[in-house]
Amino acid sequence: MGAIAAASSLKPAYSSQRSRPIPFGSAARTQFIEADGQYRDSLLQYCSRLTPEIEFKWDQIEPRQGQFSFEAADTVANFARDHGKEIYGHTLLWHRSMPPWLPDHLRETRDWSTVTGHIGRMVGRYAGVRYWDVVNEPVDTGFRGDGLRPSVFLDCFGADYIAMALQAAWAASPGAELLINEYGLEYDLTVEHDRRYHFLRLLERLKKGGAPIGGIGLQAHLDLRKGPVSQAAISSFLKEIRNLGLFVFVTELDVTEADYVRPAAERDAMVGAEVARYLDVVCDFEDLRGVATWGLTDRYSWLGLPPEEVEAYKQHGYWRDGTSPGFNRGLPLDTDLRPKPFLDALKAHGVGQF
Ligand code: G3I
Repeated sequence: MGAIAAASSLKPAYSSQRSRPIPFGSAARTQFIEADGQYRDSLLQYCSRLTPEIEFKWDQIEPRQGQFSFEAADTVANFARDHGKEIYGHTLLWHRSMPPWLPDHLRETRDWSTVTGHIGRMVGRYAGVRYWDVVNEPVDTGFRGDGLRPSVFLDCFGADYIAMALQAAWAASPGAELLINEYGLEYDLTVEHDRRYHFLRLLERLKKGGAPIGGIGLQAHLDLRKGPVSQAAISSFLKEIRNLGLFVFVTELDVTEADYVRPAAERDAMVGAEVARYLDVVCDFEDLRGVATWGLTDRYSWLGLPPEEVEAYKQHGYWRDGTSPGFNRGLPLDTDLRPKPFLDALKAHGVGQF
């Protein structure tokens, strides 16, 4: 707790510098919304925005070519609408979570209208969505001079596919705010330095070419095994983002732990302190449109074990409180949906209204 208090007290006045709290949201899963009332209540209590964790992805929407499956996506979208919450659109184009038929189809046909069809379908069906991750994780280091990630989209349509995807989303919904969402930008590591560099160059090219990009998503999967986040690196990266006239979203904040065997309270304090260190810098960015965590509770975290396995272990009396080795405690609420120092760090930085 001391570490958190120290980190937060460095700059205690974020919320008072802003006219309103920074909107808070979380990734949400239809499967758990339907099955778990406590989870549902927590989403409603804490979040003003929900990001469908998997339901909007192309593999979920069109598992077989031309056969659409909107049920899970509609369920989370309707849940949000019925409770006055916003949906954050994640994600239109990603080299992962593609339907199995898509890569071969694109390689055979080079048919861009397959991509624009998908983008137009999603943006049209979920027309109330204001923010869209149009392209997810387009940068990777160590492959090409321009830092673009090798993918079927790059192979078939060339480096312009990113600008073309933004144009397609813009054409389908000129009012929407369009983003590129990227990970691995927080640490003083060579690979992350290179990723920041290449991401900035990509953004410069897009702006120069007139692509309709409004902002960037910082996934912010923090990782205590990498050491503390580099506030200096993040701060200078964000200066360049500001110079490009782009807004920022924190889209997938969570923390992978380095030590799973300390008492839960100590682990939670370390997680909270790291979140506070990160928010110290990011919340200084004037045009920060929101912060979302990648899951609200350790009960359902992509960083932990699959839920079925957690349940099985729970039945045998293990990991009831999520304190045992192997169970990650990197989200704002614990497995019993109790707030942790992570949530305090959000509050202290003016994120959310709770
Ligand atoms: O639902 C099926 C289940 O029926 C089946 O038994 C099981 C077997 O593997 O798979 C289940 O689907 C999995 C789904 O999560 C639900 O658990 C998919 O295989 C799995 O690929 C999917 O993983 C998601 C992943 O994106 C890919 O879509 C994660 O939950 C989700 O947290 C993760 O989110 C990504 C962001 O979109 C982008 N940034 C990184 C982040 C973490 O990887």
